[in-house]
Order: sequence, then C-alpha cells, then structure tokens
Amino acid sequence: GLVNTKELFKKAVDGGYAIPAYNFNNMEQMQAILQACVETKSPVILQVSSGARNYANATLLRNMAKGAVEYVKELGCEIPIVLHLDHGDTFELCKDCIDNGFSSVMIDGSHHSYEENVALTKKVVEYAHAHGVTVEGELGVLAGVEDDVVAEHSTYTKPEEVEDFVKKTGVDSLAISIGTSHGANKFTPAQCTVNEDGVLIPPMLRFDILEEIEKRIPGFPIVLHGSSSVPQEYVKMINELGGKMKDAVGIPEEWLRRAAKSAVCKINIDSDGRLAMTAAVRKVLTEKPGEFDPRKYLGPAREELKKLYMHKNIEVLGSANQA
Ligand code: G3H
Ligand code: 13P
Ligand code: NA
Ligand code: ZN
Repeated sequence: GLVNTKELFKKAVDGGYAIPAYNFNNMEQMQAILQACVETKSPVILQVSSGARNYANATLLRNMAKGAVEYVKELGCEIPIVLHLDHGDTFELCKDCIDNGFSSVMIDGSHHSYEENVALTKKVVEYAHAHGVTVEGELGVLAGVEDDVVAEHSTYTKPEEVEDFVKKTGVDSLAISIGTSHGANKFTPAQCTVNEDGVLIPPMLRFDILEEIEKRIPGFPIVLHGSSSVPQEYVKMINELGGKMKDAVGIPEEWLRRAAKSAVCKINIDSDGRLAMTAAVRKVLTEKPGEFDPRKYLGPAREELKKLYMHKNIEVLGSANQA
C-alpha cells in the first residue's frame, strides 16, 4: 500500500539524499513519474495540489494513486509510494485527504501569524497522527505565487523559530524558505551573473540559514519547495517552436545536489515537468501538423517527462537505488 514519510525521511536524512516529490494532474504525468522511479529504483512522493484536485477530480486522483501501487508491481519493482497533499491551506482540506487515503499532507500556514500557524498545524497533526498520516509544516514564505497568496519577496525562515515550532506542533517535516520560489520565473536575468560558459547564475540560496536550522533541530527532515531548475534547453525549444517564455531562470542543479546531501530530504519539482511536456508537445505539433491523435503528442510528452525524472533521481537528488 501507500506509505507515510516517516521511515523514508529517516533513511534519506541518514543517507544524504532527497526523495523526489513530483506533482501530478493526469495519467501521463503519473505514468512518467512511476516508470522513472521504478527504473531508477527510487522511492517517490506523488503530490496533489488543490489545483490538481479541482482540475482532475479528487476521487479520480486518489484512485489513480491507489492504482499506482499495483502498477509498480506490474512494472517489476515495489518502490515505496507516498500520496501527499501539496500546500493544504485549511484543516478541512487536510482532513478530507486524510479521510480519503492520503498517507501524507502538507498544512501550509506560513502566510498566517506565527501563533496561528502553530495552532493550525498542531490541529492537523493531531488528526493526521491519529490516522497514521505524516504532516509537513512550513515556516517562512517563498517569493512568487504560493497557492493564491502572492508574496513579492521571500521571507526567509527564521532559524530561531524552528525548534519551538517543531516542538509545539509535532510536525514530521518542515518546509523552509531560503531563496527558492515557485514557477518558471524564479529570477530575472538582471538578478543573475553570467559564468564562463554563458550560463545565468542566480543569487546564491541562503545555505547559511539552512545550516543554522540544522544546528537547532539536528537530523529533523527539511523540505525544499520551488526546486525546479528550469532547463534552458526546454525554454529554448518552447520559444523556437512558437512559445513565448520570457526570463525563465531556475535553481542550478549543483545547489540542489548540495541541499540533498543535507537534512533536506524532500525536494519539490513541478515546473520542470511542465516545461518538458510543453516542449515535447510543441515539437510533435510543429513537425507533424496533421497529427490529431492525443496519444501521438501526449506519448512523446510522457517519454520526455520520464527522461527528466530519471535524470533528477540519478544525477540530482541521489534517490536512485534507495527503494
Ligand atoms: O506549489 C505549486 C505546485 O507547483 C502546484 O501547482 O497549484 O498550479 O497545481 P498548482
Ligand atoms: P517548482 O515550481 O519550482 O517546480 O516548485 C514546485 C513546488 O514547490 C510544489 O510544491
Ligand atoms: Na538529504
Ligand atoms: Zn510548493
């Protein structure tokens, strides 16, 4: 069956790697994630946002995730699978997911006051733990769009709050803000420097804050949201094939590799998958303008997505061969 994050995070923190948390909204994304994780023998966290629930229907999504457990057996490797609510914003939403088979939920109270965040998170933890479900909380606000809340600048996590928050709420993991943000436009080229290979290098993540957090809650599982790298090959492909994506810059993979070796044990990636699929769909529709069978463009999109996730597991997160 589906598993919660408890054992997986313990092993990941001790082993110096991170578990991939990939978002899915449809069948092709789910297949690509599972095929990639089976082929690389990686544990996986399947993430569902409230946007995904609205798009695909909560009942269908949850039954797809239950089917995932059987599907990986058919593929030949019973990797651990977590079904996780991404950015839950109310107790009721978290409860609904817990009551309907999710093995893990995030309660994102980071845009509330500290006291309200503690109270809300604690309430979710009490209900979740009574049902064997693990909980991710968040301290600090990421810049960019975080659900419906748009924060213009990051509010970095305050290391002096983490110990109290973890103790008072009983959360199983903590998402932090150290300079990552959601979406494909994390930084503008103007904010970046250009290295000798002509690659845009964004302002450094606040690894000093991460280190301070690790000192205060040693070995406690940390989560990094907004961790897409925004591969420039995909941006270029999309733009050459009629797209218009301006100033898309992400987190260098080298920095994610560094994070994965630390107490960061869950790395959230959604936007890179969207870019891979969009580039692949545009390619098919451009090269074969007479094509009208969705399988003929969603199939290649699924292949590209699988390739991307295998690369992440093997080269970036270090989760390959940890299932
Ligand atoms: O954090 C946001 C995730 O990338 C999910 O995005 O809310 O558009 O489904 P979404
Ligand atoms: P990206 O937009 O960088 O892929 O981040 C996804 C995320 O944090 C989902 O919770
Ligand atoms: Na780690
Ligand atoms: Zn997120």
